[in-house]
Amino acid sequence: MTPRSISSTSLVRQLGEWRDDDRAGAGGDPLYVQLAGAIRLLILDGRVPLDVRLPGERELASALGVSRTTVSTAFGRLREEGHLVSRHGSGSRTSVPAGPGGRVIGSLIAADDTFAIDLGAAALPAAPGVHAAYADALAALPAHLPGHGYQALGIPELRRALADRYTARGLPTVPEQLLVTSGAQHAFVLVLQLLAGPGDRVLIDHPTYPHAIDAIQRASCRPVPVGLPGSGWDVDGVVAALQQTGPRLAYLLPDFHNPTGRCMDPESRSRIAEAAARTRTTLVIDETMVDLGLEGPPPAPFAAHDPTGGVVITVGGTSKSFWGGLRVGWVRADEGTIAGLGGVRPGLDLGTPIVEQLAATSLLTGHESGLVDRRAALRERRDRLIAALARDLPDWRVERAPGGNSLWVELPAPVSSALTASAERHGVRVVAGPRFGVDGAFERFLRLPYTRPAEELEDAVARLARAYEDLRVAPGPRAVPTTATGAVV
Ligand SMILES: Cc1ncc(COP(=O)(O)O)c(C=O)c1O
Repeated sequence: MTPRSISSTSLVRQLGEWRDDDRAGAGGDPLYVQLAGAIRLLILDGRVPLDVRLPGERELASALGVSRTTVSTAFGRLREEGHLVSRHGSGSRTSVPAGPGGRVIGSLIAADDTFAIDLGAAALPAAPGVHAAYADALAALPAHLPGHGYQALGIPELRRALADRYTARGLPTVPEQLLVTSGAQHAFVLVLQLLAGPGDRVLIDHPTYPHAIDAIQRASCRPVPVGLPGSGWDVDGVVAALQQTGPRLAYLLPDFHNPTGRCMDPESRSRIAEAAARTRTTLVIDETMVDLGLEGPPPAPFAAHDPTGGVVITVGGTSKSFWGGLRVGWVRADEGTIAGLGGVRPGLDLGTPIVEQLAATSLLTGHESGLVDRRAALRERRDRLIAALARDLPDWRVERAPGGNSLWVELPAPVSSALTASAERHGVRVVAGPRFGVDGAFERFLRLPYTRPAEELEDAVARLARAYEDLRVAPGPRAVPTTATGAVV
C-alpha cells in the first residue's frame, strides 16, 4: 500500500494561524516550540491521522516562510516526544508516544484525568434511573439465558419499546423497522458500510459531530460540507449541494445539533426531505440529542417528512438521554434496509450485550421522567456558563440555542487551536473548533460543553480567560483568514 502523506499546502492550511510573533519575543516561546506545539495538536486532535508522512523539512520551511532550522528543531522535539518517527527513506511519520498516560488520539474523550477541568466530552454522568434499570435488567435476564444470546437485530422487547416511542412521537413504526446497535456512532458506521463505498460523497452540516467525519473518512468517502448560517440551516445550500454534488448520503443533525444546539424547523425538514427524494440521496438523521430540548420538545421527527419511508434513515441512542456507558443505539429505517444492515453487521460485531439492551428497555419504558431533571440541570448550567462568559470574556460571541449540551462560541480571532493549547496549561481541556469541521475550518470557534457542574464551568471560564490573555490577542481586525483555512462556512 502506498504510504499516506500530507502535502505542505495541506499542512500549512491545517496549521492556520499557528505563529504568534508576540509570544516569540524575549521570555516567550521560540518559533520552533510554537510550530512543534501546533503540529502536536493536529496529531492529538486527529486532524492529521497517524502514520502519515509529513512534508520534507526544506519544503515545509519554505511553505511556512520560516528557516529550515526552525522546522528541523521542531521535528526533533516531536521525535523526542514520540509524536514523529523517522525511518530511513520514509521521512517523518506521525505517531503517538508509547506508554500509559497518552490520550486517545482523535477522541473527544481524555483517557487520563490530568486536567483540573475536562470540557472535552459533552456528556453528563448517568441519570439517576440507570442503576435501577440495570437491576431490572438482571431480573429480566433469566428469560434470555436459555437462548444462544446472539441477537444481531436486537432483543424483541427493546425493538418494541423503540417502535412505540417513535409511534408516540407521531411517526408510526413497527419493531421490524428497528435494529439495535452499540451506540449511535456504531449505527452510523453500519449505515455507511451498507450504503456507501470508496469515493462516495457524504453531505454534512458544517460544523458537525467530529466522529461522524472520522467515520466518513474511514469509509473512504468524501465529506461535502454545507455551512450553517447565523441561525438555523442553509436550506438552499443543502438543496444545491444535493443537486450539484450527487452525494450518496447526507448526514444531518436537526435535533439539537452538536455542537451548536440548534433545532431545524419543520419547513426546512420538509424542503430537505423533498430535495433528497428528488436527487435519490439517503438522509441519515442523527437524533442522538433529541431528548435535550431545553426550551421545549423538537418538532415531529424528520422521518415524518418522508412520504415513501425510503429516504430517511434515523440513528439514535441512549448516551445523551441516560448514560454514555450503556452503549446502546439504534437505526430506524424501512424493513428492507434493516434486513440489509442485519446482513452486514456480523462483519463488524455480532450483537449488542443483552443486559445493556434490557437496561435500555427499562429506561425507555419506565424512567423517562428523569429526563425532565436532566434538562433542568442542563438549562441552569447553560445559563450560568453564558453569564460567566459575558462577564469574563465579553468579546466572545455566544449563541443561545434551544437545546443540546454545548455552546458553539465564536472567538474574535482565529486562535482556537492556540487557545486550546494555552488552556491545557491552565488545567482546562477543551476541543478546538477545527475538530468539528474539515480542511482546518473553524479556527474562530470553540465548543464549550455545559455538562459539568455550574461552579466548575465558572472556574473553567476564569481559567480560559487567563489562557486567552496569555495569547495576547489584539482585539479588532487581526487577520481572520477566510480562505486560508479552506473553510466552506
Ligand atoms: C451527534 C452525535 N452522534 C453520535 C454520538 C455518539 O453516540 P453514542 O455514544 O450513542 O455512540 C454523539 C456523542 O456525543 C453525538 O453527539
